[in-house]
Amino acid sequence: MASGIVSIKVNGRAEEVVTGAVTTLQDVLRNNLDYTSVKDGCSQGGCGACSVIVDGELRLSCLTPVQEVDGSEVVTLEGLNLSNSITALQQKFIEKYAAQCGFCTPGMMVAITALLDRNANPSRDEIAEALAGNICRCTGYLPIIEAVESIVAEMAGIAGD
Ligand code: FES
Ligand code: FES
Repeated sequence: MASGIVSIKVNGRAEEVVTGAVTTLQDVLRNNLDYTSVKDGCSQGGCGACSVIVDGELRLSCLTPVQEVDGSEVVTLEGLNLSNSITALQQKFIEKYAAQCGFCTPGMMVAITALLDRNANPSRDEIAEALAGNICRCTGYLPIIEAVESIVAEMAGIAGD
């Protein structure tokens, strides 16, 4: 791809960035715009730590040439923090001990948000499937799945525990 200027909206804010021929969305978000919730775990699509939402769809920003999303709306964890729902999700992560080192947590929360946006009442299998691309080296996954189940129950008006 050719270098040039790309216009994107990140967490509601319009941005213009000068790109090289192989600049990724991850690179722009982390290094140009300081959205450090976008982690660099593997740089090759294998861990999910760089997950963001682009025009409503979950994307791995390390595999996304930024030129490909010219004109798009991008949401990172920092953008999700502006809503009440992510705050409630963070609370569930705390209650269920779903984060230890925390490196995978931003990508997990972005992926969970994308899941709940398309399916407000996912089963345990659907939650596990939605998070299959997000690697966690600390928790063993069960606490993360339980945190999602708990917020789903809360959203449905059922006792979360
Ligand atoms: S850094 Fe993008 S999937 Fe690992
Ligand atoms: S909490 Fe450490 S990698 Fe997930």
